[in-house]
Amino acid sequence: MTTSTSTISNHQVRLANRPHGLPGPEVWQFSDEPVAEPGAGQILVRISHISLDPAMRGWMDDVRSYIRPVALGEVMRAPAVGLVLASHHPGFVEGAWVTGLFGVQEYALSDGRGVRVVDPELAPLPRYLGALGITGLTAYFGMLDIGRPAPGETVVVSGAAGAVGSIAGQIARLLGARTVGIAGGAEKCRWLSEDLGFDEVIDYKLDNLRPQLRRAAPDGIDVYFDNVGGPMLDSALARLSVGARIVLCGAISQYNSTDGVTGPANYLSLLANRASMTGLIVFDYESRYDEATKRLLAWLNDGSLTAREHVSRGDLCQFPQLLLDLFAGANIGKLVLELG
Ligand SMILES: NC(=O)c1ccc[n+]([C@@H]2O[C@H](COP(=O)([O-])OP(=O)(O)OC[C@H]3O[C@@H](n4cnc5c(N)ncnc54)[C@H](OP(=O)(O)O)[C@@H]3O)[C@@H](O)[C@H]2O)c1
Repeated sequence: MTTSTSTISNHQVRLANRPHGLPGPEVWQFSDEPVAEPGAGQILVRISHISLDPAMRGWMDDVRSYIRPVALGEVMRAPAVGLVLASHHPGFVEGAWVTGLFGVQEYALSDGRGVRVVDPELAPLPRYLGALGITGLTAYFGMLDIGRPAPGETVVVSGAAGAVGSIAGQIARLLGARTVGIAGGAEKCRWLSEDLGFDEVIDYKLDNLRPQLRRAAPDGIDVYFDNVGGPMLDSALARLSVGARIVLCGAISQYNSTDGVTGPANYLSLLANRASMTGLIVFDYESRYDEATKRLLAWLNDGSLTAREHVSRGDLCQFPQLLLDLFAGANIGKLVLELG
């Protein structure tokens, strides 16, 4: 790198206050600091794309979970893609594109842990945050390791038009299952049935869910891939088949609740149907990311898998509103902020 990094300003978004409910503008603080030179074993990355994830809401709470909370004053945690501007790390060359948890900022220093090289010739860069990133991997391991649908079984996916759900449903279809997607709004439902090949779609905003589920899954649900939780999970529990598997991937309907989490009242359906409900944390599968990415890429290349990114171009000031947009359901496919 020829320009002195100290003359470049790194704009950042930091967590200033813990949210109560939806994260409003009061929880964020914008900061600037000079870009630091990478030390021994470090790389300097210029970030081009930042991922917007429902999990971010959980990372902002000061509670014990699968990952430590973002500290007050810390740059907000976020998966991102960027270009290696300078490298003192043997595993990364200058000019390589990489993905990792680089945070909501324009430049990141990294010691290379959890960083993967990506190839913009193989797929567009935002896809490495979606179908070829954490959300695609979540769909892959959730469906193949926990859901395990057999051909002809009925798989219901909530949040089906989102980043995880759209890939999860298509993987179930590739495995020969009958796929039912639940999403909010006609445009999302049309995309699921016409472009992604879901056998049935349910617009949960249009009508009561239970009669719609009875119609779409008349023989019961064999696999429920849950991204939403709350009352939607309860409705799915009421229609389980014997031996059903529930993939507990997420519960976006509960993340901003200010009066506690609404749990499933119908949990005795698990007992009656000898069914299981299993929590999924994608980070547990890190040693198999390469294997899964290769398979996802092959499916994308041969046209059996369709990926869609909802890319918003702008600067970091857009990040707070985009996160709210995610909870309002504004995205179809993977929501990404492209800087520049
Ligand atoms: N376990 C893991 O390792 C792991 C990893 C990644 C993601 N996840 C989880 O996977 C789920 C999906 O994440 P994603 O990144 O793919 O997000 P996403 O589905 O692309 O976006 C969120 C979608 O959720 C729906 N939604 C928002 N609020 C809702 C509500 N109150 N009720 C019903 N639907 C609501 C909206 O779609 P509609 O318009 O259809 O409502 C929205 O577009 C999240 O629960 C996330 O936490 C888990």
